[in-house]
Amino acid sequence: MNGLRIPPGIQVFNSIKNFRQWRRQILLDRQTLGYVPTMGALHRGHLSLVSKAKAACDHVALTIFVNPAQFSPNEDLGTYPRTLQADLDALAQHLDKAAVLVPQVAEMYPSGIEPEVSKQVGAFVEVKGFSHQLEGTTRPHFFRGVATVVSKFLNIVEPEQVFFGQKDAQQCVVIQRMIHDLHFNVKMNICSTVRESDGLAMSSRNTYLTPIQRKYALVLYNALKLMEEMYEKSTKHAPTLIAAATELVNRTQQEAQAECEIKLDYISIASPKDLNEVKGDIADGCIMSGAVYVGKTRLIDNLMVNVNL
Ligand code: PAF
Repeated sequence: MNGLRIPPGIQVFNSIKNFRQWRRQILLDRQTLGYVPTMGALHRGHLSLVSKAKAACDHVALTIFVNPAQFSPNEDLGTYPRTLQADLDALAQHLDKAAVLVPQVAEMYPSGIEPEVSKQVGAFVEVKGFSHQLEGTTRPHFFRGVATVVSKFLNIVEPEQVFFGQKDAQQCVVIQRMIHDLHFNVKMNICSTVRESDGLAMSSRNTYLTPIQRKYALVLYNALKLMEEMYEKSTKHAPTLIAAATELVNRTQQEAQAECEIKLDYISIASPKDLNEVKGDIADGCIMSGAVYVGKTRLIDNLMVNVNL
């Protein structure tokens, strides 16, 4: 926090206790609080959630916390962009007032947080049945980490409403289920994905991309759009759609070979109800989603077809 310039209208809290005092006053004033959980490196996607929170509630709070529990030991916890000053400045430009809780890892995880799940001690939250597939295949402990930190923050912030981006569709499904099953008294809002003008979904990890990689980063969105277009015009057969999308990624991979490495992680067409793969024809709505490595950066995206989360 040393050297941090706090812009007008923005209140920054480093301790949970001080944040709770601020929050308590809002309750005493019978006003409402909208909450946007983030890991910082704010982009227009986050700011659109902030705008939604502002429109729906009297006050807005954000948390900025790079949550160690949702990174596995081989992932980018150490290099994840930490841009607190720029985040606060962007917020101040976007709205007249907001509270930002920026807690320490030690306070968030009083029992400690070992990188290896098998060595961890303390309380963790798991949402079974929704966390192992799709993103969970490559990132088996990711949603345990997300559900744990979001439940901690919902207990701390106690917002009337919380705002998530649809870009992380599985995260939305997991948190929806957690809020429901654990009786969190909060309204969850899932807001549309914000995209760059060419269609690339906004993500803090886009900053990792070199200009050449950025050029190829659209490969996943293009593959999802192809499936959506085929679904509308020619076939509802999920395996056929996935084969066409996979072929598009493979073709792009070959074109890019000399300039940039592209690796498909998965392409999926799943039911929004249970996140299980659609095996034959898509009967109702579905989530078309995927993950692709462009260079070392893992990009995810999704399209909702005839369905809302
Ligand atoms: O979506 C994110 O940025 C994170 O997963 C979240 C919800 C802030 C939890 O760390």
